[in-house]
Amino acid sequence: MSSRPVALVTGASAGIGKELARVLARDHDLILTARRVDELTALAAELKKANGAACHVIPADLADPAGPRTLFDAVSAAGLSVDVLVSNAGFGDLGPFAGADLAKLLRMIQVNVTALTELTGLFLPGMQARGRGRILNVGSVAGFQPGPMMAVYYASKAYVNSFSQALANELQGSGITVTCLAPGPTDSEFAAVAGVQATKAFSVGHRMSARAVAEAGVQGMRRGKVLVIPGRRNQLLIFLQRFAPRAVVTRVVRWMLAKRL
Ligand SMILES: NC(=O)c1ccc[n+]([C@@H]2O[C@H](COP(=O)([O-])OP(=O)(O)OC[C@H]3O[C@@H](n4cnc5c(N)ncnc54)[C@H](OP(=O)(O)O)[C@@H]3O)[C@@H](O)[C@H]2O)c1
Repeated sequence: MSSRPVALVTGASAGIGKELARVLARDHDLILTARRVDELTALAAELKKANGAACHVIPADLADPAGPRTLFDAVSAAGLSVDVLVSNAGFGDLGPFAGADLAKLLRMIQVNVTALTELTGLFLPGMQARGRGRILNVGSVAGFQPGPMMAVYYASKAYVNSFSQALANELQGSGITVTCLAPGPTDSEFAAVAGVQATKAFSVGHRMSARAVAEAGVQGMRRGKVLVIPGRRNQLLIFLQRFAPRAVVTRVVRWMLAKRL
C-alpha cells in the first residue's frame, strides 16, 4: 500500500484538470474522474510511468444529479480516502440568456456549482475525522463581476469564488485548508466547448498555459492560500476593477465577450 496522500481531481481528462493531476502526481496518488474514460486511462498510465503514482480511474458524469454520490460511493468502495479534493470540472456557454438552451444551463449549474458543493459536503467529514485535508476549487476571474452573454457561467463562478472563501474561513484551525484557484483566459478545451474562441476575451491578448495555472494553484494550495489568481495581468485587472463602477465593469465584460471583427 502506497503511503502517498491521495488527490481526487474532477475534470482530469483535459486542460487545467489534466495539468493539476500531472503536478499533483509528483507526490500524490490520484483518483482521476471525468466522462471520457480513454483520456483518463491514458493519463493514468502516463502518471504511473512518470511518477510511480497509483492512479484510479473512476468515470462520472457530474451533470447527472446522481453523479457526485455515485463517485463518492465508488471511492469509498475502493477503500480510498481523499486527502486532497480538487473540484475543477466545469464548462461555459456563450450567448444571451433569453432563448438559450435552458436544460444546458441547468446542467452547467449542476456541474459548476451543485456537484462541487456536494462533493465538498461528502468528502469533508472524512477530512475532519482525520484532522487534515485540502480542498482546491477552480473558480475564475469571471466570478468577480457579472458576465453579460455568459450570465449563468459568470454567476456559477461567483458562487465558487464566494463559497470557497467562506468555507476557508469556517475551517480555519481545523487542519483543512480551502483554496480557490481563479484563472483568467487559459489554453484548454474550454474556449471551444463554450464557443468563445472568437471573442475579444480569448482572441486578443495573452492566454496562460494550463500548466502554469495548475502550478500556481497547487503551490497556493500547499501554502494554504485562500485565493490564487494566476498571472500578474489577471491580478492587476481584478485589483483595478474594484475601483470602477459596477455598471462600467459590466459593459466592459460585454464588450470583451463580443466577437472580434
Ligand atoms: N480555460 C479558461 O480560460 C478558464 C478560465 C477560468 C476558469 N476556468 C475553469 O477551469 C476549469 C477547467 O476548465 P478547462 O479550461 O480545463 O476546460 P476543459 O479543457 O474543457 O476541461 C473541462 C473538464 O471538465 C470536465 N467536465 C465537463 N463536463 C463534465 C461533466 N458533465 N461531468 C464530468 N466532468 C465534466 C471535462 O471532462 P469530460 O468532457 O471528459 O467529461 C474536462 O476534463 C473549469 O471549471 C473552468 O470553468 C477555465
